[in-house]
Amino acid sequence: MPNPFYITTPIYYVNARPHLGHAYTTIVADVAGRFNRMLDHEVFFLTGTDEHGDKIVRAAKKENLSPRIYADEISELFRQLWPQLNIDYSAFIRTTDPAHIAVVKQVLQKIYDAGDIYFSEYEGLYCFGCERFYVERELVDGKCPDHETPPEIIKESNYFFRMSRYQDWLIEYIETNKDFIRPERYRNEVLSFLKEPLEDLCISRPKSRLEWGISLPFDDKYVTYVWFDALLNYVSALGYPEGPLFRKFWPHVQHIVAKDILKPHGIYWPIMLKAAGIPIFRHLNVHGYWNVDKSKMSKSLGNVIEPLELKNIYGLDAFRYFLMREMVFGLDSGFSESALVGRINADLANDLGNLFSRVTAMTHKYFKGVVPAADPHGDPLLTQGLQSDAIIAIREFETAMSGFMFHKALVAVWEFISQMNKYIDMTAPWVLAKSKSTSKQLETVIYNLLEGLRIISGLIFPVMPETAASMQRHLGNDPGKAFYRMSFLSKWGGLVSGTVIPKSIPLFPRIDVNKNENENESAEDISPEPDRPVFKPEISIEEFKKMDLRVGRIIKAEAVPKAKKLLKLEVDLGENRTVVAGIAGSYSPENLVGKQVIVLANLQPAKLMGILSQGMLLAAVDGNRCTVATLDGVVKPGTALS
Ligand code: MSP
Repeated sequence: MPNPFYITTPIYYVNARPHLGHAYTTIVADVAGRFNRMLDHEVFFLTGTDEHGDKIVRAAKKENLSPRIYADEISELFRQLWPQLNIDYSAFIRTTDPAHIAVVKQVLQKIYDAGDIYFSEYEGLYCFGCERFYVERELVDGKCPDHETPPEIIKESNYFFRMSRYQDWLIEYIETNKDFIRPERYRNEVLSFLKEPLEDLCISRPKSRLEWGISLPFDDKYVTYVWFDALLNYVSALGYPEGPLFRKFWPHVQHIVAKDILKPHGIYWPIMLKAAGIPIFRHLNVHGYWNVDKSKMSKSLGNVIEPLELKNIYGLDAFRYFLMREMVFGLDSGFSESALVGRINADLANDLGNLFSRVTAMTHKYFKGVVPAADPHGDPLLTQGLQSDAIIAIREFETAMSGFMFHKALVAVWEFISQMNKYIDMTAPWVLAKSKSTSKQLETVIYNLLEGLRIISGLIFPVMPETAASMQRHLGNDPGKAFYRMSFLSKWGGLVSGTVIPKSIPLFPRIDVNKNENENESAEDISPEPDRPVFKPEISIEEFKKMDLRVGRIIKAEAVPKAKKLLKLEVDLGENRTVVAGIAGSYSPENLVGKQVIVLANLQPAKLMGILSQGMLLAAVDGNRCTVATLDGVVKPGTALS
């Protein structure tokens, strides 16, 4: 049986729309999942939503909705977002799923029967925001450290989970299993917390105060504390206790969370598992926080970053790359659009993009697009250096990825990209091409460069799957799973001589149009050749018919504040629709009013810079220039195209 690998994200509260922070954790899980698939491991990747508790009730009230309907709506937003970020998950769990509820009850009963849950009156400091009691020493200036509001004193009878009984066991477990919680700073944080006596955990809420939760199986006047309910998603999703998925994947589980929920995952969860007789998880991988303008993202500060907005402006792979490269896993990071643009230009357009177009263009120029063969009798030094650079990059990449050090893995790949660029400068193919006597050397050099690109395309796959596939296609390969296997990637010589490669496209257009695209190119270097399109896979007429294309007339157009590329359009499609289009670089609003356009009318609405876009304008994009599609004559707005 292949090695199973089980990766989880936190299940996100449905009291807010998905934002950059949620996207980051979920992309991390996706990257880890894809990397493990490259190792031929069998991957199960779980995400979902956390839907019970007071927080949700209050958020639903604000919208005048019942908690259930509200939870359905927001959960759906998360579910629909993930495919748009290329998140290849296996299951999406909701804590309102009946199967989950049944598992929570079963585990509660088991722990209750074992004597680890008791009933007692308690008076304590309660933070409604956190939905939990605090002890004095946890407060900062008498306030909840998260909500910065003073907790209220409440007195009630509740059920308690005897966590204190397991304190010594947990300390020993963490000390024996060195990388159980990683990176180390969070392990130390948990251990230092455990130096103080552990309080028992209040795991019930009286229904008189909160009804939106899972009833305790042994007292239906109470619902379960939301964390006790939520943490169990990790086992209920696998069909605990008997399900085949549980048996296969649970022993290999790795959780990913941010530092905000270290305590429930580093303390409550292992103790809950121990008390319920379930094996403990393998690793808790903890990352830091994305801050914006040096502060936490929050609705009230108006600095919440919407992942789809960035994807639509800069492209998905660039966005995923930025997140993985910029944040040192475990530490906080500041998000800024200028840093994103900087990385796109330097790392993607310049380093990787230029290398790719230089090598593929040389293959066309010197070998008519056919992969040459390396000369087996030639100077071994011509190959050995690059080959050993590749081996080092692959080794470092693999070690860093396995240890959740994504930025390090990418640094290793970019180090190899830089060696490849140096190799071009050193071997100067344009000089070799001048003489027949060096033609064999030229073949070897170009083969080695193409082979290096094949390896790079594999190594970037977990982070930038679309770019990896595009590179593979432009190396003449069908980007199937086999090409991304680590076992195949790490064998030098995988690219087959004689393969015909299509003409290349720029992988990443530069964002700053004023800069000279080819500033690093040697004067002898080849000029870029005209693009030949790479067509998408065939679709059936039925698939095409799913698109509702309509004729529209623009009745209003205005700039979107703070978004250089976006325009907000009001379009008459027989009914008026708001459409946000990334065409500001090519059109000014006043030139658009009255224009007849074509709109994809049944595209799922998406918010761009806070504006709900209810359709998409069709346009041709050529580099930075965008031309809106129109019709050869005046047609009534709303007319369908077929
Ligand atoms: N529902 C609980 C988790 C239960 S898991 C059994 C919860 N939900 S949450 O919606 O608040 O999500 C918190 C998680 O979202 C963080 O741990 C992190 O994964 C992600 N992030 C939310 N904001 C973030 C940042 N600003 N930066 C990085 N990640 C953050 O807690």
